Amino acid sequence: MNEMYYWSPGVQFCVKDEELYVERFRYGRQAAQFFPEFYYLTQFGARTEDLEKRFETENRSLLKNLIQDFMKKKILVCSVITPKELFHSQTRLFQNDYPETIKFVKEELEEFKLEQSGRQLVKEGLTYILKDSDYCNDIICRETVRRFSKKAISFHSFSRILGSMQNREDRRSTRYYPSAGGLFPVDVYVFVKSGRVEGVEQGLYYYNPVINGITLVDEGDNITIKSQFITNQEIFAGSAFTIYFLYNARCSMPKYSGMGYYYGILDCGIMTGLITRVSVEEGIGTCSIGDMLYGKIESCFHLNKDQIFLHSMECGYKDETESEQLKENE
Ligand SMILES: Cc1cc2nc3c(=O)[nH]c(=O)nc-3n(C[C@H](O)[C@H](O)[C@H](O)COP(=O)(O)O)c2cc1C
Repeated sequence: MNEMYYWSPGVQFCVKDEELYVERFRYGRQAAQFFPEFYYLTQFGARTEDLEKRFETENRSLLKNLIQDFMKKKILVCSVITPKELFHSQTRLFQNDYPETIKFVKEELEEFKLEQSGRQLVKEGLTYILKDSDYCNDIICRETVRRFSKKAISFHSFSRILGSMQNREDRRSTRYYPSAGGLFPVDVYVFVKSGRVEGVEQGLYYYNPVINGITLVDEGDNITIKSQFITNQEIFAGSAFTIYFLYNARCSMPKYSGMGYYYGILDCGIMTGLITRVSVEEGIGTCSIGDMLYGKIESCFHLNKDQIFLHSMECGYKDETESEQLKENE
């Protein structure tokens, strides 16, 4: 294959004490001989065979293996990178005054959450207290649901939830949610568990907004709790179906270039909001899952290289028995 490979924009390297380090990986002295030239070449894109020819070295296999390893670790990339890879670089730019322990110590995290939700940035000056917070029940009753009952979802409710993503017949080229440029670059897939949606067999389906239907892409036997971090495994195990959102760069980058990716993430948030709203109407609970081990199930989706996983949601009837609902990070 003659593909162009690029040094991933989220990846940093340095040569220290004559040894090459790329992010947390140590590549040693021999690899250091190719730097920084290797970086200069690949930041604008290069073909692997050109890279192999470009450097004078007696150790051809070392260079070849290095390139292969860079490809495997996604240091060299040939398509749009994931949000995780893209946003990783922001961590070091943020001046963090909080200790690492707020991530792991329950009490510290609770305190941090209270501090953030209770923040009042401006407290002095002309102020109006707003009124009439009497929202409809669907807004008032919404809450994240993490424990689901085993009751099967009716095909009617399932259809209404996913159908909120369809192409409208009454207004050409639009859907029930807004999208930058009317391009709708987020693709939707749904994994249905066995016996959990009336009349639908277990499997991973592509949601087709044109026909407002779902089409099987994989039996889904390999889509298991192993695709989730431990804190979210119980949520996944109990849900009736999972909705996956994937950004499709082909649909918006031709118009918006890199910003198309950003708009796609915004679209995904709006879609999630609409699905949550319709689910509440149907008496169905949802839980957004921020991060998962998507790589473990990626092959089930049979994607093209322009499709990038963004987000997923677990859906099902709330478990109304005595057991208390889980909280995030439990
Ligand atoms: C982008 C996003 C990611 C989230 N990720 C998780 C998650 O991984 N696990 C989880 O249990 N809840 C997750 N949640 C749910 C939040 O924890 C929840 O919305 C928040 O605690 C407020 O509670 P409420 O939705 O019941 O009002 C996520 C929500 C959003 C919007």
